[in-house]
Amino acid sequence: MALFDRCIFDDNLGLNVNEVFLNGEFISADKAKVSVFDRGFLFGDGVYEIIPVYSGHCFRLDGHLKRLQHSLNAVRMSSPLSNLQWINIIEQLVKRNGEGDQSVYLQVTRGVASRDHIFPEGVAPTTFAMSSDLQVVPQNYKSKGISAITLPDIRWQNCHVKAITLLSNILLKQWAQDFGAQEALLLRNGYLTEGSTSNAYAVMDGEIYTAPKDERVLAGITRDLILELAIYANIAIFEQAVSEKQLREADEIWVSSSTKGILPITTLDGVAVNSGKIGAVWIEINMLYQRYKRDVNLW
Ligand SMILES: Cc1ncc(COP(=O)(O)O)c(C=O)c1O
Repeated sequence: MALFDRCIFDDNLGLNVNEVFLNGEFISADKAKVSVFDRGFLFGDGVYEIIPVYSGHCFRLDGHLKRLQHSLNAVRMSSPLSNLQWINIIEQLVKRNGEGDQSVYLQVTRGVASRDHIFPEGVAPTTFAMSSDLQVVPQNYKSKGISAITLPDIRWQNCHVKAITLLSNILLKQWAQDFGAQEALLLRNGYLTEGSTSNAYAVMDGEIYTAPKDERVLAGITRDLILELAIYANIAIFEQAVSEKQLREADEIWVSSSTKGILPITTLDGVAVNSGKIGAVWIEINMLYQRYKRDVNLW
């Protein structure tokens, strides 16, 4: 039996995927194979999306499909599927995997070709999708907050592209973990960009600040929702990067992502953020976010 066959349902590895979509067909995960000449494997030449699913319903799907198209355009790849086809595949995957809270992963690579940096011509992209259980965020992350460390933003200049080439993000996240922190907050030229796997926010005098959408950050779908919720709640929100000094003096610091929601950071580089307790602005925005998740007309 191949190693992968033995691993696929090993809970220790967290591989809780049953059926996947690969190049036009649904097959069991242990039968899904990709060529060693795939440019995703050789170069990390591809893009991806992660869409949260609550009780079988996709959350902010439209935004995720738009961002996928944005990433594909940015790396000069055309979408192998129409939005309707993506939606159909996602619906089927979610059904086949049990319709609970899930995390849908979509990936498109430039396809299989002999190894050459120059784009191959006439090659079909590799199209892959899977859905797995949405990891539950530990309750104390919300009641007590998480800790983060600051690190230099060593990533490339195209952070608006959701590229599968994630080596810098992986190293940054691992350094955070090595220091006993849950996230790394990234500083570029003295300003906060985002987290290694999240967008980042600082609250100062009751106002929320987050870096503008440009090539230095990923245009987070949760970030878009936070902007909407803040406007709804009459809380001032500015798309303006904060300096390292402002970050260290902020009343509250948060991060957000589709799979983890909005999390307060109560310790930064081993020092308490303000009082070291979760803040009032986070409590209000998180309450609105949870309510939105519950009430929104999903799909
Ligand atoms: C680097 C980075 N920034 C921001 C985000 C948050 O984006 P979203 O809210 O769309 O999940 C993520 C999520 O994976 C990320 O990896």
